[in-house]
Amino acid sequence: MFKHKAVVIVALFAAIIAVVFALLFHWMHFTNNINLYLSLVVLFALTFGVIVYLLNRNIYSRLDTLYKLMYASGDKKLSDKNVNIGRVEKEVIKWSQEKEPIIRQLKAQEKFRREFIGDVAHELKTPIFNIQGYIFTLIDGGLYDETINKKYLRKAQKNINRMIHMVQDLDLITKIESGTLVLTKKRFLLSLVIEEAIDEVEMRALEKDIKIRYQKPKEDIWVIAEKNHILRVLINLISNSLKYGKKGGKTEISIKHKKASNKYWIKVEDNGIGIKKEDMPRIFERFYRVDKSRSRNEGGSGLGLAIVKHILEAHNETISVKSTFGEGTSFQFSLEKALK
Ligand SMILES: Nc1ncnc2c1ncn2[C@@H]1O[C@H](COP(=O)(O)OP(=O)(O)OP(=O)(O)O)[C@@H](O)[C@H]1O
Ligand SMILES: [Mg+2]
Repeated sequence: MFKHKAVVIVALFAAIIAVVFALLFHWMHFTNNINLYLSLVVLFALTFGVIVYLLNRNIYSRLDTLYKLMYASGDKKLSDKNVNIGRVEKEVIKWSQEKEPIIRQLKAQEKFRREFIGDVAHELKTPIFNIQGYIFTLIDGGLYDETINKKYLRKAQKNINRMIHMVQDLDLITKIESGTLVLTKKRFLLSLVIEEAIDEVEMRALEKDIKIRYQKPKEDIWVIAEKNHILRVLINLISNSLKYGKKGGKTEISIKHKKASNKYWIKVEDNGIGIKKEDMPRIFERFYRVDKSRSRNEGGSGLGLAIVKHILEAHNETISVKSTFGEGTSFQFSLEKALK
């Protein structure tokens, strides 16, 4: 009952006031009561008890619960079993200050999650509606029309492939972000992987009449990383140089090594359309495309560079980009030198 000092003080004060009022009342009416002092003591005790009880029940027990809940939501433990009213204000302010960054972070995550789901839905919508359109036309009689049936089936297949790529890309990003992707780093010859990547995109280069030049170093270069992922990085960067390259242009791939460093720097440079300064900070964001219609025509969904960045970060490597709008772009990333 007397666990809160403030309650006791308030109740004491109220009881004294009650006694003073009773005394005044007594003197004003000039009544003679032999049990006056006894009555005053009873009045004092009653007032005091009732006020302590009411305050405890209605305010402090609730404050106690709030205070304990506040601590239960965190990993701190309450030092006292009961609330010290003088400390409550300070501790509540401190608690809310501690929670603020967490709340801000949770809000940002929620915004990101909402945008991400919106982006995925938006990107899937286009190929799904395309496929639906082709199938409707085929059911509507197009199936028996030799001039369009194969063409529409191929178009549907192209859209399905686009969806498959997107889902695979998202799957990889999610795995890297959640830390469930296990990297099996091994040493391999860098030139072999670069040549494999060039082979993969050769058709596209021919279609756009873009020359891919690779200045192969004289000595063998061994690096340590997950080979398939580095192949993916190279394919994405070289494909971009072709997608956003000018007809008849060129893509150059080169390797640099600074003395006394355990890193190699691989550069993929083009003389394509370039990227404006204001777009540069955003190109590694997932789904970000400078020119949505151009990228979509090329079959892109804006995940390529996000994957590149994620893969390199998972390897503790870095990537940088330089670009001049209208003149060209160069991406440069690092890889760890393998010990012989
Ligand atoms: N070499 C480049 N030259 C000019 N712009 C580029 C180049 N590489 C990337 N970009 C710009 O950055 C954006 C993001 O690139 P990213 O590779 O992530 O997506 P994408 O190529 O559009 O689609 P995806 O790679 O998923 O097929 C591109 O849409 C393009 O606008
Ligand atoms: Mg790309």
